[in-house]
Amino acid sequence: MTSPAPLHGPHLRERFAALDDFLCAHQDVWRPVPFTERDLPWERQHSELATWLRGRTLADADAIHNHPETLQAPAPYPQLAARATELSHLGELPATRSEPVANAFTVDVPGRKWQQIDAFASRLSFRQAPDHWLDWCSGKGHLGRRLAHDGTPLTCIELDPQLVVAGQQLSQRLGLCATHREQDALATDAFRHLTAAHTAVALHACGDLHVRLLELASCAGCRQLAVAPCCYNRIQTPDYQPLSQAARASALQLSRADLRLPLSETVTAGTRVRRQRDQSMARRLAFDLLQRELRGEDRYLPVPSLPASWLAKPFVDYCRDLCTLKALPEPPTQDWRALETEGWQRLAAVRNLELPRSLFRRPLELWLLLDRALYLEEQGYQVRLGSFCPTHLTPRNALLLAER
Ligand SMILES: C[S@@+](CC[C@H](N)C(=O)[O-])C[C@H]1O[C@@H](n2cnc3c(N)ncnc32)[C@H](O)[C@@H]1O
Repeated sequence: MTSPAPLHGPHLRERFAALDDFLCAHQDVWRPVPFTERDLPWERQHSELATWLRGRTLADADAIHNHPETLQAPAPYPQLAARATELSHLGELPATRSEPVANAFTVDVPGRKWQQIDAFASRLSFRQAPDHWLDWCSGKGHLGRRLAHDGTPLTCIELDPQLVVAGQQLSQRLGLCATHREQDALATDAFRHLTAAHTAVALHACGDLHVRLLELASCAGCRQLAVAPCCYNRIQTPDYQPLSQAARASALQLSRADLRLPLSETVTAGTRVRRQRDQSMARRLAFDLLQRELRGEDRYLPVPSLPASWLAKPFVDYCRDLCTLKALPEPPTQDWRALETEGWQRLAAVRNLELPRSLFRRPLELWLLLDRALYLEEQGYQVRLGSFCPTHLTPRNALLLAER
């Protein structure tokens, strides 16, 4: 199961079943969100771990955030970490010889995006050479152009008319045989752009958008597909709609909130941005204590995202204004400094209590990816699932390759 090869054939189904068991068995650990719940159900059962985590600082939590599996914590943490690591293993897709392209192709592309595109393009080893690339939710179509640099025809599908125009100009300037089409990928007429001759690619098309491609491409009989999914929570339904028979038969029901878990790694932000994010969260957690008291209800109350200028307000004004915004009674005079400090203490606890949950980020993502892989198998494709680049280039580094 831990072979370094990409997942394919029966391994897809085997890994899915193992992940499904693991996720179902530990729902009490990964489902509750420490930010919104003051006490987590698993804390009673694993009190030594809970006490140990609650005793750690914010800096302790931040230091381990991106590698929670390496934390030396009381049971059952090490056991969960070991199993999560084993089940999360995803081999690299083999790199193929990809011809370098002229610098003109990289015009207008941010450096890291180009590295992702180059890595994605280098992993597309199909038995048959593609005849026509289809770049789905293409933005300006940088990926499509990278692939179609040799003159293979290219169609780009994109919703934003400005990106369509900009993309068409870039393609024309390079003399490529490319058509950029303005199209809502979710509209009922989106199918008309797909034919069996297409090799469809999608780099980081969100939730429903890439799922739609899997459905339409299967229906049109597209010969090959290469999809790197992202933002699993961007779906129109309140709950996740499983695609494959295996996922449909699973006891696992996923809400949109659950689907956020795989995306909850914080990207490497600068010190100032991190400090601002921490301050905002500490204030929200402090306000949460206040609102529970004012409402006489021990339940989280969602607060909309606020402009950064709110952080410049004195804490007392922040609380008062937020009470007005949420139509709560005027808060009584109190020790505001003590409340603000409590917010920071809660933030430290929240970040540490998130660590057991974060062990399930990759297993849940892999479960979702395998649902897509198994669906494509059911549609008659041979599927490989592996990584196309290291996680520091993008945490959404998994690529599904399918061919008929
Ligand atoms: C995360 S970007 C990825 C763009 C490109 N594939 C890349 O990797 O640079 C997602 C793209 O999907 C487009 N998009 C969003 N909703 C869409 C829809 N309903 N139909 C088609 N494209 C859509 C956005 O405008 C955006 O260009």
